[in-house]
Amino acid sequence: MAMLEVTDLSVSYGYVKALKRVSVEANEGEIVSIIGSNGAGKTSLLRTISGLKKPTEGSVRFQGEALPHKPNKIVAKGIVHVPEGRKTFSGLTIRDNLLVGGYLFKGKDLEEELQEQYKLFPILKERQNQFAGTLSGGEQQMLAISRGLMSRPKIILLDEPSLGLAPIIVNQVYDLIRQIRDSGITVLLVEQNARKALSICDKAYVLENGFIHISGTGEELLHSDTVRKAYLGG
Ligand SMILES: Nc1ncnc2c1ncn2[C@@H]1O[C@H](COP(=O)(O)OP(=O)(O)OP(=O)(O)O)[C@@H](O)[C@H]1O
Ligand SMILES: [Mg+2]
Repeated sequence: MAMLEVTDLSVSYGYVKALKRVSVEANEGEIVSIIGSNGAGKTSLLRTISGLKKPTEGSVRFQGEALPHKPNKIVAKGIVHVPEGRKTFSGLTIRDNLLVGGYLFKGKDLEEELQEQYKLFPILKERQNQFAGTLSGGEQQMLAISRGLMSRPKIILLDEPSLGLAPIIVNQVYDLIRQIRDSGITVLLVEQNARKALSICDKAYVLENGFIHISGTGEELLHSDTVRKAYLGG
């Protein structure tokens, strides 16, 4: 049994069908990538898993159980969603952004988790009392991921963490994703940056117009003609 089982999931916004019977699985300890272009349905998939959007059909099961339809309960089960576009609270300090992410804990536990994050991200410690809005794009991405880790997730859903970042910063983000996986957290990674996402993952799915088009190991998809032509520039 996979850790996360998404089965025949359909999602609509009025007449727009964003997902059509999508099935995706992630096993514990894996990095699973979903690649697809603008409007393919990537964000809708993550929003549905994290309880922000109700599906019209299908199911999401986590560790063998159907998930409740409440985002805060889903976080408590160990699923955290780092949204597209970072969405850090620019008017709060870095420290307060992290404390928001750790809302499940209090007192000593919360402080311990904060120190854990400062160890992982020294830059956030250095700048803990500055407003998050003063961070660069790459640093804000690190903060968004760190805020997610504050809830001690079992699986982290990352929506386009490389978007808008310079190549060298993208590499840093990807090193961090590997580190997260090595620490025992499963990763579901959504990206338009197909080459990067396929290079890092154990398993990948190509989402096109709300359908899963192709799936396989990252290696297989990197060498698939269809994927190369459509997503890797030939
Ligand atoms: N709140 C909404 N209201 C209406 N339609 C929506 C809404 N959110 C998404 N859609 C539509 O659902 C489809 C899938 O959108 P989604 O944001 O999931 O795609 P995506 O793969 O994340 O795209 P991108 O790479 O641009 O972020 C698109 O046709 C989009 O226009
Ligand atoms: Mg999106």
